[in-house]
Amino acid sequence: MAAKQRSVYRCAECGAEHPKWAGRCDGCGAWNTLVEEIAQQPRKRGGGTGQPSAQPPVRLTDVSPDRTPRISTGLAELDYVLGGGLVPGSLVLIGGEPGVGKSTLLLQAAARLQAAGVTTLYAAGEESVDQVRLRADRIAEDAGGVLVLPEVRVDAIIAQAAQTGARVVVVDSIQTTYTDELDGAPGNVGQVRECAARLMRYAKASGAAALLVGHVTRGGIIAGPKTLEHMVDTVVYFEGDPHSGFRILRAVKNRFGSVDEVGIFEMTSAGLSPVANPSAAFLAGRNADSAGTAVTALIEGTRPVLIEIQALAAKAGFGTPQRVATGLEHKRLAVLLAVLERRGGFPFHDLDVFVNVTGGVRLIEPASDLAVVAALVSSVTDRPLPADAVFLGEVGLGGEIRPVAGTDRRLAEAERQGFRRAYVAARSKVAGRVELIPIAHVTDLGARLAA
Ligand code: TYD
Ligand code: MG
Repeated sequence: MAAKQRSVYRCAECGAEHPKWAGRCDGCGAWNTLVEEIAQQPRKRGGGTGQPSAQPPVRLTDVSPDRTPRISTGLAELDYVLGGGLVPGSLVLIGGEPGVGKSTLLLQAAARLQAAGVTTLYAAGEESVDQVRLRADRIAEDAGGVLVLPEVRVDAIIAQAAQTGARVVVVDSIQTTYTDELDGAPGNVGQVRECAARLMRYAKASGAAALLVGHVTRGGIIAGPKTLEHMVDTVVYFEGDPHSGFRILRAVKNRFGSVDEVGIFEMTSAGLSPVANPSAAFLAGRNADSAGTAVTALIEGTRPVLIEIQALAAKAGFGTPQRVATGLEHKRLAVLLAVLERRGGFPFHDLDVFVNVTGGVRLIEPASDLAVVAALVSSVTDRPLPADAVFLGEVGLGGEIRPVAGTDRRLAEAERQGFRRAYVAARSKVAGRVELIPIAHVTDLGARLAA
């Protein structure tokens, strides 16, 4: 066992070093920013100033383009999001809320990697070997060959990775991993950073790819591991409502690929399975004849995907009316309701309003505004919207409807899924076989929707 090293506490804001932990940084006065780390001994550098480094520089044209052959995880959607597979020597952080399916995804990947002859070590810090085994029995893959290591000490994980010659190391999760050279409990920022740094050094030195699981809190930040985002090569988020079947895998940072691609999965009784036609899956079970539902086309990564938005406005009881939004930011809903009320003359102030995006999808683009307001108006007027229509438009504070980027791609997907009409901003310029119904302002909604 390595001798215990001296710790220092560094301010995450200003970088000031403190010998002891304190609630407030002496350097910048910020509270609760001190993070434990191992004190660095001043290193003797090979060669003083002025001496050339041991490695001569190379011309970029002399660097062969296939220096980094990728390791396919066997899960096409995961490979796609990673930019074509795992890069040897890289560190990938997979973040997601508890229960979303991170362990399932990585066990499936581990099974396929192992089946393809890539030695894979799965360090399980959150579950016993028996629990991993139970999960392995559920998934469609044969995970029998995967090496499972019930271990939380980072150095022991690294030692086993070296000993087994694993090409891929899964650490589930980085929050349970620790080193006893730091005093902090597993999961605190200092531990998480130090463990990730050691795994990173191991990955770079050995050429193994490391996949770290990081839990994200409801607010959307990777607790603790948020500070890892700039250390690791790739950050992938696994999103989706744990109660609905669909999951979206999204790269938010990728040193080896674009961050535009998403992978869409469905959680089944036999693990995660890729969704070939996400629009059809998200619209399955839609009751187009009822009031308060509208369809819009989002762009997930580079793919247009149709989703359904449901709204229900009901007479409020006593007190402040409720506003409940699932899959849509509360603030956005508040803005849209205010615009409908003030600019459109639709009274919502004494109604409870519930908005739900089906499939567990989260609306981030303003392009879906028009669908949200159309669903709200449909609910409040109790008139169903045309079943074969999609809604594309951003709603401005003046009540004006603005065109959205990528309208033609969204319309092409709508057409593919059998939609015949599109309500779009008056200024949208697109050609296609879908009938366009221009909407200039929210006041047009009532009249246009009745048409
Ligand atoms: P899990 O991978 O344990 O999530 P995480 O590691 O992100 O916390 O997945 C948890 C959920 O997935 C759990 O509620 C059970 C469900 N599940 C299935 O529905 N089917 C399956 O085949 C498996 C393995 C899990
Ligand atoms: Mg897990």
